[in-house]
Amino acid sequence: MPDKILVTYATRTGSTAGVAEAIGQTLAAGGVQVDVRPMSAVTDLAPYRAVVAGSAIQDKQWLPEAMQFLQTHRAALAARPFAAFLVCMTLAMTRGDYRAEVARWLQPVRAQVRPVSEGLFAGALDIGKVPSRRDRLAFRLSVLFGVWKEGDHRDWEVIRAWAESLRPLL
Ligand SMILES: Cc1cc2nc3c(=O)[nH]c(=O)nc-3n(C[C@H](O)[C@H](O)[C@H](O)COP(=O)(O)O)c2cc1C
Repeated sequence: MPDKILVTYATRTGSTAGVAEAIGQTLAAGGVQVDVRPMSAVTDLAPYRAVVAGSAIQDKQWLPEAMQFLQTHRAALAARPFAAFLVCMTLAMTRGDYRAEVARWLQPVRAQVRPVSEGLFAGALDIGKVPSRRDRLAFRLSVLFGVWKEGDHRDWEVIRAWAESLRPLL
């Protein structure tokens, strides 16, 4: 039985990669071997005893390549402990509590493979990095109307605490 854990991620502007690195470092501090890799660089799950996979959210969903990863590796993921996380801006909103709604965005993931644990994290908004002009305008308006603030909202303590909680599960 291999003793390595894979932490894998899909990102568009980099913030989910940072979350994956923090999860990987926390797990590695517990004495296990960990690889942190973008999903695009993972072809085979055989070397891993457990997998932690996460994606940035766009339009209330994991990125298409993350859903593709799940489909491609469904059997291998179902055969080992699998934990899932998402990174989004809704959890950085200045008003309201949307955790229950955000948790529902993982339903298509659960439908493929049941995670042993789910991490829901606030991400980062850098409007200059958003490729589409229309999306940039929408985000500028949302900042103007006080929906959320631009910048990095990743809460490293919350992210590390979730990673610690995974240790006995993976
Ligand atoms: C085109 C686009 C669509 C997005 N849609 C959502 C969304 O539906 N809900 C949400 O909470 N955040 C949404 N976000 C915010 C991202 O999930 C957030 O910025 C995240 O940190 C990006 O991760 P990345 O840097 O790894 O790509 C969207 C961002 C972009 C650019």
